[in-house]
Amino acid sequence: MRANKEQIKRMKKNEFIRTAIEYVDTGVVITDPELPDNPIIYTNKGFEKLSGYSTYEVVGYNCRFLQGEDTDHEVLNQIRHAIKNKEKLKVEVKNYRKSGEPFWNELQIFPVYMESENQSYFVGVQQDVTKRRYAEDRSNHYLQQVKDLSTPIVPIDRDVSIVPLVGEIDDERLELLHHNVSKHIQKSGDQFLILDLSGVSHFTSQLHNGIYQLDQLIKLMGATLMISGIRPEFVLESVRSDLTLSSIQSFPSVKQALTTIQ
Ligand SMILES: Cc1cc2nc3c(=O)[nH]c(=O)nc-3n(C[C@H](O)[C@H](O)[C@H](O)COP(=O)(O)O)c2cc1C
Repeated sequence: MRANKEQIKRMKKNEFIRTAIEYVDTGVVITDPELPDNPIIYTNKGFEKLSGYSTYEVVGYNCRFLQGEDTDHEVLNQIRHAIKNKEKLKVEVKNYRKSGEPFWNELQIFPVYMESENQSYFVGVQQDVTKRRYAEDRSNHYLQQVKDLSTPIVPIDRDVSIVPLVGEIDDERLELLHHNVSKHIQKSGDQFLILDLSGVSHFTSQLHNGIYQLDQLIKLMGATLMISGIRPEFVLESVRSDLTLSSIQSFPSVKQALTTIQ
């Protein structure tokens, strides 16, 4: 029996939607969770372009064939959990094209209930975000380098190291300083640490308190903190503060601090 007008209208609409999905520039897959292993029943051209597989090659298989040795198991747990609970989800997962080339896949999964069929499907939308991920990784790497360089620890003798501080010292840098110095002393067993302040641009109460805490930390670790390159503003700040730094030996220059140690 021929479909009625209403049904033809619906079919045309479905055809329109299918054509539209074919031409969007992202991967789209539909899976059927009522079939064993939730296999793909539809993919668009965007998916073929992204993955390098043709629809013919992948229909009937679960999407996990896109994964490989570097795919994060924690992300897979999140995907499994969302599918089990029929929840929508957005993750970034390392996948591999047919050629074996890895790529970062921004994957969104939506459970879709089709009332006319009284059945649920999953729709997956995949976007290649490799360029963005690599740019982020690179900038995180440089940021880490900048952070490491912001509190350099220079070992200069058997049990002496110098930390030359340069520029503005904010709370983040002070926190990093405490962290890096305690790690360094624990590892090296250094007896003396000279904190050189000649390159510091502003002596603030923040810096003053940070040095007080650093001194306490170093004492607890059985070592000695010395300061060099102190300027008059810093002495004034120290006099005003409740936390006195008078127990820390201070010197006009690194050279003089070293002479005292030797
Ligand atoms: C609609 C849909 C699309 C999916 N697309 C991808 C994908 O592009 N890449 C991927 O690594 N996993 C994808 N998955 C997840 C896997 O099919 C699978 O659910 C996941 O590997 C966790 O299950 P498993 O432990 O049985 O492998 C998709 C899942 C669904 C339901």
